[in-house]
Amino acid sequence: MSQIHIQNLFPTPLMRVEKFLDTDTIGHLIDDIKTARKTENAHTDLLSHTEVIHPESNDHYKLIDRQSQHYLQDFGFLLFGENLHWNVKEMWMNVLSTGGHQMMHSHANSFISGVVYLTEVHSSANTVFHNSMGGKEFVFSNNHAESATTPYNGDRWVASNIERGDLILFPSYMLHAVPKNEGKERITIAFNALPEKLKSWDYEVKFTS
Ligand SMILES: [Fe+2]
Repeated sequence: MSQIHIQNLFPTPLMRVEKFLDTDTIGHLIDDIKTARKTENAHTDLLSHTEVIHPESNDHYKLIDRQSQHYLQDFGFLLFGENLHWNVKEMWMNVLSTGGHQMMHSHANSFISGVVYLTEVHSSANTVFHNSMGGKEFVFSNNHAESATTPYNGDRWVASNIERGDLILFPSYMLHAVPKNEGKERITIAFNALPEKLKSWDYEVKFTS
């Protein structure tokens, strides 16, 4: 019998940090959102966002910035092979009412993005990550009732079993969406992070935030 070896080529990392925030902090952040100015999403009035929050504006946001440093550094190591210093450059809250959804998108001008879940998430409204939509090439697929989904042909991945207080980190280029929320109000804080600099042999690119 021949030995079979499977190599996972070029996987995409996603980090989940359980209980990133404690219950008291979550309560304070939810109180903050009630008084924050919100704008409705361009596509649906069942999703609203706060204005961009600077982490320095409030102790609870500062805490998120400070506590995420360690995880950003570890996650950044997976992406860039070095323990870089990371800055959370912007942060905002999302409030998704029953029946609301968030369309597929990615985060521009950022390398690592994060979502902190401030409420329980109904299984209908888990964050869904989508594989690249591809270029202009014609694509063949084998997708029918008898076909199986494997790590190599799947076109989406659902972040299930997320609990209140958890944080997820993912590369900012990843397409993601939230399907129609059939549960209660769903509140999250999202953020984008940049490293101080990236270096490639004889030149550096520095980012300021
Ligand atoms: Fe997003």
